[in-house]
Amino acid sequence: MRKKFDFFKNLKKIKRKKNNLINRDLSLRLDKNEMTSSLTNFFLSKIKKKIDTHTLTTYPEVNKIYKLIAKKNGVDEKSIVVTAGSDIAIKNCFELFVEKNSQVISAQPTYGMVNVYSKLFQAKQVKISFDKNLELKTDNLIKKISEKISLIIIANPNSPTGKIIRKDQIMKILNIAKKNNVYVLIDECYFDYSGETCLNLIKKYKNLIVSRSFSKSGLAGCRIGYLISNTKISQLLYKFRPLYEISNFSVKALELFLKYKIGENYSKELKKGKNLLIKFFKKKNINFFQSNTNFILIKLKSRKSIEIISKNLKKSNILFTVEKNIPHYKYIIRFTLGPIKEMKFLINRLSYIHDKKIKF
Ligand SMILES: Cc1ncc(COP(=O)(O)O)c(C=O)c1O
Repeated sequence: MRKKFDFFKNLKKIKRKKNNLINRDLSLRLDKNEMTSSLTNFFLSKIKKKIDTHTLTTYPEVNKIYKLIAKKNGVDEKSIVVTAGSDIAIKNCFELFVEKNSQVISAQPTYGMVNVYSKLFQAKQVKISFDKNLELKTDNLIKKISEKISLIIIANPNSPTGKIIRKDQIMKILNIAKKNNVYVLIDECYFDYSGETCLNLIKKYKNLIVSRSFSKSGLAGCRIGYLISNTKISQLLYKFRPLYEISNFSVKALELFLKYKIGENYSKELKKGKNLLIKFFKKKNINFFQSNTNFILIKLKSRKSIEIISKNLKKSNILFTVEKNIPHYKYIIRFTLGPIKEMKFLINRLSYIHDKKIKF
């Protein structure tokens, strides 16, 4: 009996924090890389009109979403698996490719759930580090690829580092992985902001799976993501889907979200806000890392600067993140980027702190 549940002991090593309970509704939320502005009343009224008794009383009709996502990406419906956020897309890949003692290659640091799933699935992790420019050491990654590896997970761009991996590097990885019979998941959660994709490589590389998310461009609360691969792999991944992938509410919200191109419009607005913020950083000599995502990392001088900025931004109800996991750098803070209005508010507060001769 005891042996049968030995696994429980391993689970004790996995730390899962409860999501915090603070009400973020009235804050400028620059902490979780969501949409920072409000959806328009026009869009919300369209959603309200679509919600009726059936939305709540019936099981979801997710098939419509498969059609829409297939059309959006110009792929066959059978090559898609819809998931509750790209988080579950990543979990699906663990379910298909990883078993006890399998070896999984991933970046360190990367999206936190990759470590959690690796432990839950009792995989051996091979972690690849970053250089001082926060570029992934892809040569090291390539050296680690062998027949023994079951899955390589690369977030492109990566979080929390924010940078893209060049396509030629990805292709090198895919080629060597293919020769060694290794599957590669490219997590394109931030695709809306990087514009870089491996989707066009799916035909060439039978070992490639791409995951995407609707969280970063406006629907984080709906929990919608998806996987795309060749139909053979997708149909295997599809076997792990829950009976209903996402809720009826999410189905309806996504239909309208796509119809009114909310995500596309938002990423254009965000770009303007990002440019404004970067201009401000340059003017004030504030050190930042180039980012291909909807967040930006700022390099500060000391713990004291973090404390002062935290105290000041808290007063203005601006939420942000102190990043403790960025390699080579101790004092990093992260802001989610947003359109001009939200960035102006942030710039205003940061200017105030900066003008008080506080060292960034
Ligand atoms: C790199 C990366 N991948 C995946 C996810 C999961 O996102 P979601 O489940 O909201 O699609 C995140 C979330 O922040 C992320 O940063």
